[in-house]
Amino acid sequence: MCGIVGYVGEQNSAPILIEGLKRLEYRGYDSAGIGILDDGRIQLIKEKGKVSVLESEMKKRQVIGTTGIGHTRWATHGIPNQVNAHPHFSSDDELMLVHNGIIENYKELKEFLIQKEYIFKSDTDTEVLVNLIHFFYVNNNNNLYEATRQALLKVNGTYGIAVLSRNNKERIVIAKNGSPLVIGIGKGENFIASDVNALITHTKNVIYLEDGEIGEITKDSYFIKSLNNDSISKEINKIEMDLEEITKGGYPHFMFKEIMDQPISLNDTLRGRTILEEGISKLGGLHGFEERILQSKRIIISACGTSWHAALVGEYLLEKCTGIPVEVEYASEFRYRNPIIEPSDTIIFISQSGETADTLAALKEAKRKGALVLGIVNVVGSSIARASDAGVYIHAGPEIGVASTKAFTSQITVLILVALLLGRRKHLSIVDGKEIIQSLNNLGDLVNEILSQNSEIERIAEKFVNAKNFLYLGRGIHFPVALEGALKLKEISYIHAEGYPAAEMKHGPIALIDENMPTVFIAPKDAIYEKVISNIEEVKARNGKVIAIIDKDDKYVENLVDHVIRIPRTNELLMPILTVIPLQLLSYHIAVKKGLNVDQPRNLAKSVTVE
Ligand code: M6R
Repeated sequence: MCGIVGYVGEQNSAPILIEGLKRLEYRGYDSAGIGILDDGRIQLIKEKGKVSVLESEMKKRQVIGTTGIGHTRWATHGIPNQVNAHPHFSSDDELMLVHNGIIENYKELKEFLIQKEYIFKSDTDTEVLVNLIHFFYVNNNNNLYEATRQALLKVNGTYGIAVLSRNNKERIVIAKNGSPLVIGIGKGENFIASDVNALITHTKNVIYLEDGEIGEITKDSYFIKSLNNDSISKEINKIEMDLEEITKGGYPHFMFKEIMDQPISLNDTLRGRTILEEGISKLGGLHGFEERILQSKRIIISACGTSWHAALVGEYLLEKCTGIPVEVEYASEFRYRNPIIEPSDTIIFISQSGETADTLAALKEAKRKGALVLGIVNVVGSSIARASDAGVYIHAGPEIGVASTKAFTSQITVLILVALLLGRRKHLSIVDGKEIIQSLNNLGDLVNEILSQNSEIERIAEKFVNAKNFLYLGRGIHFPVALEGALKLKEISYIHAEGYPAAEMKHGPIALIDENMPTVFIAPKDAIYEKVISNIEEVKARNGKVIAIIDKDDKYVENLVDHVIRIPRTNELLMPILTVIPLQLLSYHIAVKKGLNVDQPRNLAKSVTVE
């Protein structure tokens, strides 16, 4: 988590850094800071709270300088306060550092530095790193690059860093290991940032650093080397993102915009990827890998959070269409339990950000053990995308709201396309393949039909603002949707919510049901509809309040429950894309009515780059 930015050029860096931090605020928002170098003088401003607090403080002071670094924090070591906010100075105020990541061996390094009479003001691992760099700095004739390189050779952990020194004017030393870092190439100015969102108003030309790389930028030059000091020549990539994709576009919140954007994002996910006449999909990123995947003895899908819920839907889709056994694993568990992985396995990693630390580490473990590693990722050029053997971008466009919405529906869409690609080479018939593609092509209209019920869903939300707990129940392919509905509600409204397979209710959760316990049932007319109706009856028999997501022509459930939200029908495999949308809107409206910050809920960050 955390976002870092840096600028060297001829303009005043302060407004550039603030603008960059605002665009990175989704990565962390408990404190923020900026350090600017001006003629050997470093001006440092740090504030607890959001970037806007820092910005107001800066307006009160005259902060000017053409070289600067900034940071927006998600606390790991030390509570969120002004002292623990970045940038951090070395003991003598000569060096200044911003850091995204965790220095795992910071305790032993700190003891070493204390013996060398370094003084620490904060509780952070970052202050240890800046002092360690300083230790090598004074032993290397104030050579900041060499000092940073030597210090990083002593460090275990993850970092994306930017370092300044008073004596090395107009240059920033940078390094990456496990946390993202990108250089923006300008004319007479250069930038660095945790991701390209912070750069797009300045340049479209970027260089992604890889783990173990270190470099330096000045206003008209840059270099990148390995930690062993070998020069590395890097490709310059063009960013294909527009500013309007990362602004709210008239909506009150990013989350609402991203929910309402789904007809477009789904269309972008699908564009050019189906061949109707053959009932098959066309995925350039998997070209040449189809047979290898089909020969797998099993497929494992691994992810975290919402992406893990998409993986559960994927299990259902891939097993049904390919007949290959599929297992789903939390990436955080997978990486540590020494999983049995055979070279004949295919392991799919799903991640919106492409930077989730647990997912990336699990991917590296799977690769080490010889499995074929595929990525299903949103952010182009992200670490998971680059580390995968092959993969498919979901092309949902930037997702800024911390609660994932449009990425989830696009992830499922890509999983359907993968299931089609593989299934048509196995036992999925052309007729079934065509039927799925026709349904995919109609998806945008069906999603619009659900979104047009926004006001009704808002009215339902009004009635549950004061609920303390919620239960979400679904069966089969809708069980992951129940989990996703519960996650959406708890992360932005802070209401405790649990998702369960509906049939499991009678094995425990039914004890919770009373008139104060709302239950959301996902109950479209599918093969187990009758069973779900019985579960609804069981809740109603105990005076529970029920909101049901039902087919638009369902007349029966309406008379049984307190509130219904109607959805159109489509191919069974696509139904989770539709059933989840009312749940996204429900949690959004409950959180807004509670007066909460839906885009930046407490304690969370969009991209979880720590373990
Ligand atoms: O970027 P990723 O998809 O790898 O992120 C995984 C989770 O951190 C993410 O889905 C998280 O659970 C969201 N806040 C859910 O809305």
